[in-house]
Amino acid sequence: MKKIILPLLLTGYFMTALAAVGALAWDWRKHEAPVQPIAFPHPTHILSVGLACAHCHTTADQSPRAGVPAMSVCMECHESAAADRPEIRQLAGYWERKEPVPWVRVHAVPWHVRFTHKRHIRAGVDCAVCHGELKAQTRVRQVRSLQMGFCVNCHRQKGAPTDCWACHK
Ligand code: HEC
Ligand code: HEC
Ligand code: HEC
Ligand code: HEC
Ligand code: HEC
Repeated sequence: MKKIILPLLLTGYFMTALAAVGALAWDWRKHEAPVQPIAFPHPTHILSVGLACAHCHTTADQSPRAGVPAMSVCMECHESAAADRPEIRQLAGYWERKEPVPWVRVHAVPWHVRFTHKRHIRAGVDCAVCHGELKAQTRVRQVRSLQMGFCVNCHRQKGAPTDCWACHK
């Protein structure tokens, strides 16, 4: 018996340790602001240019995803606006090569979680509740935990569904 139990205990121990280290690493990574291929400044576009979120994130009120804008949206302005600056030259390079900009994803729920923008936007939940103020983020980062307690607290307060299958698949 001992011969079996000890390896089992050890395996269990290592699996738990691995899982714990994994969870910590994951949490840490989630909250940094990744460096983007082009230093796109939200504050400039929101405050100086005066654009609404929906100008670029066009699908937020119609679909699960808010969506990152097609390059044609950027080129409406950047065929001419600030065209001599290095970041815009780089943008124009992608456009000429017909390559999408490989933006680095910042927010993501795990595979077993259902999330949809449409329902929240239509219920009047502001983007800032979940993403913080983008006009203050030179580089986008995750500012809310987006963990289960965060979601469930608001669902309780607003009378939105709290059964497991509302958010899990
Ligand atoms: C001029 C276009 C434009 C406008 C206006 C704009 N965004 Fe963005 N947004 C982008 C681009 C491009 C990215 C991807 C690059 C990045 O993350 O910086 C992005 C990324 C994001 C992300 C991170 C996506 C991820 O990977 O998780 C969030 C959240 C976001 N925007 C929210 C907003 C909100 C809220 C507003 C309005 C207050 C807004 N944006 C206005 C273009 C725009
Ligand atoms: C409605 C017009 C408009 C749209 C749409 C727009 N921009 Fe801009 N953007 C501007 C203007 C104007 C500036 C310059 C502001 C200033 O004077 O510094 C700017 C500045 C920038 C800068 C900073 C340039 C620098 O180095 O100073 C980057 C990078 C940029 N835009 C990328 C993008 C990307 C990527 C998109 C599409 C997701 C986009 N812009 C969409 C008008 C726009
Ligand atoms: C109730 C919380 C909540 C609200 C409100 C919210 N978001 Fe999100 N957003 C999230 C979560 C969670 C994710 C990650 C979703 C995933 O992994 O599928 C996300 C992802 C994103 C992304 C990147 C992936 C995608 O879906 O395209 C963008 C861009 C974004 N949000 C923009 C916005 C904008 C713009 C608004 C307001 C119009 C907004 N969000 C409102 C929680 C929210
Ligand atoms: C600030 C409040 C708030 C936060 C935070 C929030 N939600 Fe919601 N959520 C709502 C409201 C309100 C509704 C109901 C909208 C309606 O009645 O159509 C809803 C609806 C939903 C639905 C649709 C449920 C259904 O089947 O009827 C899902 C899925 C969902 N939320 C997932 C999430 C997840 C996952 C998170 C966290 C990442 C989250 N929500 C964070 C307020 C919130
Ligand atoms: C309002 C949405 C929502 C509801 C309702 C919900 N969950 Fe979750 N749950 C989440 C989100 C979001 C995560 C992912 C958190 C993260 O990023 O790790 C999660 C993660 C989990 C995890 C993985 C462990 C963890 O904490 O990360 C388990 C297990 C889980 N939920 C079980 C349940 C059970 C059981 C119920 C019903 C009693 C339930 N959930 C109801 C949103 C929800």
